[in-house]
Amino acid sequence: MNSGRFCPPTRQTPTESPVFPIRFNTVPMPKNSTIQQAIVIGASSGIGLETARLLAARGCRVAVTGRRADRLNALQAENPAHYRAVPFDLTAPDALEHLESAARQLGKVDLIVLCSGTGDFNPELDYRIEAQTNRLNIDAFTRTADWSYRTLKQQGGGHFAAVTSVMGLRGSGAAPAYAASKAYQINYLQGLQQRAAHETIPLYITDIRPGSVQTDMMKGEGHFWITSPKDAARYILRAVDRRKTVQYVSPRWRLIGQLLQNLPGWLHRKM
Ligand SMILES: NC(=O)c1ccc[n+]([C@@H]2O[C@H](COP(=O)([O-])OP(=O)(O)OC[C@H]3O[C@@H](n4cnc5c(N)ncnc54)[C@H](OP(=O)(O)O)[C@@H]3O)[C@@H](O)[C@H]2O)c1
Repeated sequence: MNSGRFCPPTRQTPTESPVFPIRFNTVPMPKNSTIQQAIVIGASSGIGLETARLLAARGCRVAVTGRRADRLNALQAENPAHYRAVPFDLTAPDALEHLESAARQLGKVDLIVLCSGTGDFNPELDYRIEAQTNRLNIDAFTRTADWSYRTLKQQGGGHFAAVTSVMGLRGSGAAPAYAASKAYQINYLQGLQQRAAHETIPLYITDIRPGSVQTDMMKGEGHFWITSPKDAARYILRAVDRRKTVQYVSPRWRLIGQLLQNLPGWLHRKM
């Protein structure tokens, strides 16, 4: 994919196309939901912010993280009974101390959603862009995923969901480190899922794979099947409720995922 886009180009639609419309008119709150406390990592904007809002609307207490303290504090001020702002940089050496603090403030953590991520087009193959991407999407991701797994295991169970990308299913000439780092995340989560299957406690791992979500991360032009961050959050919590291993956002992006994986190499190289 050398077209300078994060997603394959086609006709542009402003929102979810009406081909398979899914409408969420109410806040879903399954009767059997055991999620009362959650940490949303990367909740200062986009998908993470809406996931935190939806969890709070369900009555959960949510620790929200990210670097932009002003945004997190504003969220906490909206509803101090439900949000706890824990601002920090996930790539900093003391990141786990902040996560420990968030977990302590909640008492018990039922759900951890990892949304923090970065990536950019890299037409000049500037290593600084790739290194920054790898620092967050690979190094910090690994440390955070391992901490989440260990924390939930020590508690006797829980759910860890991480936001990867459809872009992780094939290499990208436009953003090589972004696509490769998302491939790493997808593979790492499969490893944790295999591990969790051998545990004697209820430990669930969900790989959330968005296509195009209308956030600051959605760069370039020619996007299609665009999901709002609110609907992305609903798909995420629905997947968590159903304990799914993989959730495409929106679900029709599974088709693009399959297409990318099965595309002959010669055709992929021409894109
Ligand atoms: N939007 C899409 O079309 C799309 C498609 C596929 C996958 N995704 C994935 O979805 C996830 C969420 O992105 P988004 O679309 O919601 O974009 P976004 O609004 O830019 O959210 C990114 C989040 O990551 C946090 N973050 C970035 N660097 C961080 C750092 N060093 N330490 C801690 N937090 C950091 C940001 O908070 P601060 O800046 O406050 O730190 C922000 O809360 C990302 O992993 C992205 O790769 C998005």
